[in-house]
Amino acid sequence: MLRKGGSNWVEGDSFFDREVELEILMDRMRDGNHTLVTAQRRMGKTSLVRELLRRLVEGGEFETVFVDLEAALDPADAIAETAVRARPVSGAWRRIEAGFANILKEVGGRVEELSVSDLKVKLRAGIDAGNWPQRGDAVFAALAGSARPVVLAIDELPILVNRLLKDDSGRITPEGRKEADAFLSWLRRNGQAHRGGITMILSGSVGLEPLLEQAGLSAHANIFSAYDLKPWDEDIAVSCLSELAGTHEVDLPHGICREMCRKLRCCIPHHVQMYFDKLHDRLRHAGRQAATEEDAERVYLHEMLSVRGQTDLQHYEDRLRTILGTAGCPVAMEILTATAVDGCLDGGAIDRYRAYFTAAAGNAGPGGPTVDNVLHILLHDGYLEPQDSGYRFTSGLLEDWWRNRWGGSFRPVIDDGWRSGGAGR
Ligand SMILES: Nc1ncnc2c1ncn2[C@@H]1O[C@H](COP(=O)(O)OP(=O)(O)O)[C@@H](O)[C@H]1O
Ligand SMILES: [Mg+2]
Repeated sequence: MLRKGGSNWVEGDSFFDREVELEILMDRMRDGNHTLVTAQRRMGKTSLVRELLRRLVEGGEFETVFVDLEAALDPADAIAETAVRARPVSGAWRRIEAGFANILKEVGGRVEELSVSDLKVKLRAGIDAGNWPQRGDAVFAALAGSARPVVLAIDELPILVNRLLKDDSGRITPEGRKEADAFLSWLRRNGQAHRGGITMILSGSVGLEPLLEQAGLSAHANIFSAYDLKPWDEDIAVSCLSELAGTHEVDLPHGICREMCRKLRCCIPHHVQMYFDKLHDRLRHAGRQAATEEDAERVYLHEMLSVRGQTDLQHYEDRLRTILGTAGCPVAMEILTATAVDGCLDGGAIDRYRAYFTAAAGNAGPGGPTVDNVLHILLHDGYLEPQDSGYRFTSGLLEDWWRNRWGGSFRPVIDDGWRSGGAGR
C-alpha cells in the first residue's frame, strides 16, 4: 500500500524501493564511514536518510540525530541546532545540558517543557563567534559518550557553506573563505576524532564538491566518501506508478506508466510522484477511474509543463541564483536556455561562451564563477549531462519546461549565426 508523497520527504509506507541504497548505507554506518550523499534536488536524499535513520533506530544498534542546516546562518547556529536535535539521545543530552548549565540556569527545572525552537534560542545565546569551536567540540564529545554508536545526519550542509563563503552577489570573499575553512576544518577534526563513535551522513540539494572546488577547499571533503544517489531506473519508476495507482484505485495500464516515464526521461522520484498526483486529480475531476494515453499526454502538457504553479521546477532556477549569485546566474541561464532551445549544447558553443563571458567578467572584476565553474555545477547538480561532444538536459521534463519558460523570445548573447539546427525550433 504505497501512499502518495505530498510535498515533503517521505518514510515508512510512503517510501518506495531504494532497498539496495539503504543496504549500502547501513553497511557504511556500521563500518563508521562518513558519507556524503550527493544528488540533484528532489531525488529523495532527505527521504533516504530519514528512512535509514528510522530503520537504524528500529534495529536498536544506533542512536540517531537528524540536523537540518537549511536555515543556519553561521557555525554557531549549526552547533545550536545540533545540540538541540541531540535532546532525544538521553545520555548525551545530560552532558550537553551540563555544558550549558550557566545559560540554562535561568530556565531552572523547566528545560523539559521548552519547545525545540525555544531551547535552541537559549542554547544559541551561549555560543558566539569566539567560542563556537569549543562549544561544538563539547557537543560532539557528548554524543560520542553514548552507550551506542551515533549516526549524525546533517542535511543541507552545502547551503550553510555557500552562505559562509559568499557575499550577496555570489562572490567568494576572503573573510567568507576563512570562515568556511574554519567550520569545515572543525567538522573534519571532529569526524576524525570520534571515528567509530559518531558516523556522519551529510546530504544537500546543492553539491558540496563544486563549491569547495571553487573556493580551493576541496581537501575538507576528503573524510567523507561520496555516495551518488541515482534517479530510479525506468522499471522501478513504472512499478512505483503501478503501486500508487493500486493504492488510490486508479486503473493505469503498464504501457501508459512506461510512456509517462519516457517523457520524464530521468525518473526523479518527486517528478514521478507529481505526475501521478496530477493525473489522479484529473481523473477525480472527470469522475473516472481508468486513465487513457490522452490523459497522460494532457496532464504532461498542461499541468507538468505549466509555468504557473510549478514551484518545484521554479526551484531549479532559484537554486542557481543561490549558488551562483548575481555574477554567475546569468551565465547559467544563458547556457541552459540555449541548450533547451537547441536540444543540445555542442563544444563549439561552449568555446564561444567561454570567450564571451571571460571578456565580460574581465570588465566586472575578479571573483565571479567562470563558464567552466558554472558547467561543473550544472553537471554536478543534475541539470545537464554529457552527450557526444557536448551536453543536454538530463531531465526531459526540465528541458521541456525550461524551453516553454525561457525559449520563446530567446536570443543568444553570442548569436552570430553559429546555431545551425536550432533556430527554427
Ligand atoms: N523513496 C521514495 N519513495 C517515494 N517517493 C519518494 C522517494 N524519495 C523521494 N520521493 C518523492 O520525492 C519528494 C522529494 O523527496 P526529498 O527526500 O525531499 O528529496 P531531496 O531531499 O533529494 O530534495 C518526496 O516528497 C516524494 O514525493
Ligand atoms: Mg532534502
